[in-house]
Formats: sequence, structure tokens, C-alpha cells
Amino acid sequence: MGCNRCWHIIYVIISLFLISFLSVYGSKIYDPKSLDALIHDYAMEEQAQKRTGNLFKVSLPANFSGMEVSVVRLRSSNFWERGANLSSLYIPPRVIPFPFVKRLAIIYQNLGNWSSHYYKVPGYSLVAPVIGFVAYDDSNISALGNKTLKFIFTGDPILVRFPHIVTKENSVLRCVKLGQDGLVQFRNITKGNTCITGGDGHFSVAVPIPGVKKQRHIWKWWAVGFVAGFIGLVLLGIIGFSIFKLVRGKRIREMVGESENGVVFETTWIGRSKMPSASMVRTQPALELESVP
Ligand SMILES: *[C@@H]1O[C@H](CO)[C@@H](O)[C@H](O)[C@H]1NC(C)=O
Ligand SMILES: *[C@@H]1O[C@H](CO)[C@@H](O)[C@H](O)[C@H]1NC(C)=O
Ligand SMILES: *[C@@H]1O[C@H](CO)[C@@H](O)[C@H](O)[C@H]1NC(C)=O
Ligand SMILES: *[C@@H]1O[C@H](CO)[C@@H](O)[C@H](O)[C@H]1NC(C)=O
Repeated sequence: MGCNRCWHIIYVIISLFLISFLSVYGSKIYDPKSLDALIHDYAMEEQAQKRTGNLFKVSLPANFSGMEVSVVRLRSSNFWERGANLSSLYIPPRVIPFPFVKRLAIIYQNLGNWSSHYYKVPGYSLVAPVIGFVAYDDSNISALGNKTLKFIFTGDPILVRFPHIVTKENSVLRCVKLGQDGLVQFRNITKGNTCITGGDGHFSVAVPIPGVKKQRHIWKWWAVGFVAGFIGLVLLGIIGFSIFKLVRGKRIREMVGESENGVVFETTWIGRSKMPSASMVRTQPALELESVP
């Protein structure tokens, strides 16, 4: 008898929850969103030290070595006249930041050998580094703003070049725009391994892995399994808890029935189970009874 089993069940459920939480958390180690936030913070710090000069490199901590980050600060009027040219990113003239600001800063990132850690395209492999860029309001000279800007085009679109692509012959290269939530958009690649875009974001070049359909299928089932498993766990937790409450309620009713005074009740309780919650509530009157005489 007793409800030691209930506790075992609850421990198992809690452990399973912890494991699923940790696995979700673990996948967040390479979270593109927090990487962007970190890069913004470092760019801001660097900018505070270097007020002069339009273009500067941002040095990231040593455990991010292999990534390349730079920032260009521009007056919107200059940006409109000349565009911007940051290694493999080319923004042509006649682009207007939106909402309009007097000055803007463009953060450019090349994730280098970290690319495939942060961005994955199911069924495809990335054959070029991930290039990302985003524009920020830079009206306040002393601090890089948090407000991101969009672009309005009155001329040509933005080009992202990928000069050093190493692939097998006759593999079909696709431009990919990589969303932070795993959303992927494909575009045909243009001459000179260039991708065309109408806005900021993260870009790379992908080639299909042979046997794509199979992989997609597996991925889908994996996702379905995960969701089903999670719902199952929640249900199990609810059921387990209900059983636990039921059993506990029954036991308390039994004990109240079998004990005439509190002293007997207390010893019975300690002898049978180590469960703390109900005993605390029930033993208090017993202690009071003891201390009265
Ligand atoms: C990328 O290369 C650098 C050295 O250039 C290295 O320190 C770093 O660990 C590498 N990162 C990954 C994820 O392999
Ligand atoms: C941009 O810069 C690269 C070298 O950094 C140069 O080869 C290219 O011609 C430039 N493009 C424009 C339009 O200025
Ligand atoms: C500009 O940034 C500095 C430093 O963060 C801040 O103290 C100041 O209030 C900002 N000025 C404006 C006009 O937002
Ligand atoms: C993309 O390329 C494929 C084959 O290379 C072609 O059939 C298709 O029309 C192209 N799409 C666009 C939008 O150019």
C-alpha cells in the first residue's frame, strides 16, 4: 500500500519534461536570432569606441572566430547617391531607407564556417557561407539604434555575390533566403553566382541532396512524432496527477476513518509513508494536543 508509486510516476514525468525542455533549449545554442542580437550588441560597443570612419570591422569574442562582421555608417543622402559596397554585398544607388532616417548603419555578417550550424535547409546542403545584412537607424551618433529599417527601391535590387562556390559539376545551385524561424525561400541564381534580393536578411546558396523526398518525409514524421509525444506527455502528466490526487484523497479518508485521536494518526502516517504534504496539515492538531497537558 502507500503511494510510493505515485511519486515514482511523478518523478518520471518531471524528468521527461526536463529532458524535452533541455533538448529544445539545446537546439537553441545555435539560435540565429540570438546571434543577430549578439552581433548588434558588439557592433554597438565597437561604434561607441570608433566614432570616425564609415566602415569598421566588429571583433567578436574568440569563440566566434571564423565569422566576419562589419558595419558601414552612412548618411541617407550619400546612400541614395552611391549605394553601399560591403565585400560580397552590393546595394545600388537609388535606395531609400524606410522609415526615413537621416543616418543609417548597415551591419554585414559572413558566418563563414559557422553557416551550417546556424542555418539548415531540409533536403539541401549549403555550398556557400551565409551572408546576412540588416540596416539600423543610426540617427543618434552616440549609440546605434535598435530600430531596423527596410528599403524602398527606385532603381536596381540588391546583389549578394558568392564568388567561391565549390560543388560537383552539373549540380543545380539555388539561392536561398533563410528566415530565422526556418522559413526558406528559393530563387534562381544569376550570372556570377549572384543572388538578387529586395530586402535585408540572410542568404546563401544550396544544392539539393540526392533522395530529397525521403528526407522530407522523415523530417515530417519526426515533427509529427515530437508533437504527438509532447501531447502524450502532457496527458500522462494530467492523468498521473489525477490518480495521485485520487489515491491521496482516498488514503486521507481511510486514515480519518481509522484514527480516533491525532496521536495514533501521526504514528500510523509516519510508519507508512514519507509523503510530506498531507502529514504536515494533519499533524499540527496532534502536536497541539500533546503540548496541552
Ligand atoms: C571556424 O574556424 C575557426 C578558425 O578559423 C575556428 O577557430 C572555429 O572553431 C571554427 N568554427 C567551427 C564551427 O568549426
Ligand atoms: C565593390 O567592391 C568590390 C571590391 O571590394 C569591387 O570589385 C566592385 O567593383 C565594387 N562594386 C561597385 C559597384 O563599386
Ligand atoms: C543617444 O544615445 C545615448 C546613449 O545611449 C542616450 O543617452 C541619448 O539619450 C540618445 N539620444 C537620443 C536623442 O535618443
Ligand atoms: C529558374 O530556373 C529553371 C531551370 O534552370 C527555369 O526552368 C525557371 O524558369 C527559372 N525561374 C525563373 C523565375 O527564372
